[in-house]
Amino acid sequence: MENFLNYIKQHDLDINDETLAEKLDALDDLSHMRKEFNFPQLGDIATEINDENRDKVDQEVIYLTGNSLGLQGKAVERELKVYLDDWKKYAVEGHMKGTHPFISIDEEIQSRLASIVGAKPSEVCSMNSLSVNLHILLSNFYKPTKDRYKIVIEYGAFPSDLYVTESQLRNHGFNPETDLIKIKPKENEYTLTTQEIIDTLKEHGDSIAVVLLSGVQYFTGQFFDIKTITKVGHECGAIVGWDLAHAAGNVQLQLHDWDVDFASWCSYKYLNSGPGCIAGVFVHSRITETFDLATDNRLMGWFGNKLSHRFHKEKPFVAETGALGFRCSNPSVADTTALRASLDIFEKAGGVSKLSAKSVILTGYLEYLLRNKLASTNIQMITPTDPSQRGAQISLLVREIKANEIKHKLLNSGVICDVREPDVIRVAPAPLYNSFTDCHRFIQLLNKAMM
Ligand SMILES: Cc1ncc(COP(=O)(O)O)c(C=O)c1O
Repeated sequence: MENFLNYIKQHDLDINDETLAEKLDALDDLSHMRKEFNFPQLGDIATEINDENRDKVDQEVIYLTGNSLGLQGKAVERELKVYLDDWKKYAVEGHMKGTHPFISIDEEIQSRLASIVGAKPSEVCSMNSLSVNLHILLSNFYKPTKDRYKIVIEYGAFPSDLYVTESQLRNHGFNPETDLIKIKPKENEYTLTTQEIIDTLKEHGDSIAVVLLSGVQYFTGQFFDIKTITKVGHECGAIVGWDLAHAAGNVQLQLHDWDVDFASWCSYKYLNSGPGCIAGVFVHSRITETFDLATDNRLMGWFGNKLSHRFHKEKPFVAETGALGFRCSNPSVADTTALRASLDIFEKAGGVSKLSAKSVILTGYLEYLLRNKLASTNIQMITPTDPSQRGAQISLLVREIKANEIKHKLLNSGVICDVREPDVIRVAPAPLYNSFTDCHRFIQLLNKAMM
């Protein structure tokens, strides 16, 4: 919130000005990006329309759920049509012909994807979905021994991460009850300090094979100190991987410089590529440059093989350079097209660093409103207040009233946010398409919903 208050001072704005949100929007040089997106309308999402809203059915909703599913970019709609036309026109010849030949559809976006996570282009690729990628990456990098076999995750990790790590342990004959270490916050706390994470890593030290944490925690919105934790994980002798579902496109990442071993992320949250769309993968060049198939026993599929060998069974498997060599199947062209169009929108906006600068002020403003303009005392923010420890999302713990009841009321007044059972509402103003007015209006409607 400090950054937001400094911003107000810097621009000589009055915090008590009734028109502050509009003035902040006028200062926002990314406000034009909003028109790049399709917004749902109240009439399409409300479960009931009351008298007050009868003439507002065509109004765009206030969408605060980019942390779950990002809005549809108009470019995505456009580019998918181009893909369908190419497929219609060229059929199998489309692998080599057309606007974006199918054969290299994913290689075409590597550098754009790399800029989202702070990587070299060859360190990233798009493939499969997130949970599948976590399995593939762990199958490649979780090589337990008798002495070093534990996997570390955060307590309250996303269910899929829990299932992935539990099943990986079981597949290798280990016991998730004892061998899956879940780092738990202190009593009555929701978030972890970096020191608590370090202490756990040191406590289990040389028995840890893999550390797999979320970059931004889905429930609390906490952004972990990836650089420090990766360093300590390495000092313990472990491989350190990250689930970046809630971090990619949300916060600034430097996966290469932070020396992360591997990571994966979905592209349908802050990256706005559409539900279930193709996921991203990062593998550090330090690993791929020294990769030896004979000793590392990579999970192989034809698309991990070099193009010149791919169709020749008599030739050996020669892994594609970098992350591409971890592909098994050919990528979905529809998915990759949607992702490419979304990444173009990021580029048009000036990239993650520009968006992140707006995000700090926008979420800072939301925090200011939550702290100063909420009538109810039954809402507690559980996301860290320090902007370096969060992205766009703020998670709100609700007491006395059911979170789902509030969500429902908000929906019918034209606000989409989401609930994580039993009692947390998550709101995430996405800097690509949310405005300061969205935050201001949200607080007014939240106050009404809490009455
Ligand atoms: C943190 C996190 N991990 C994993 C997943 C699972 O993603 P997928 O269904 O694409 O495998 C999600 C989905 O929302 C998530 O938020």
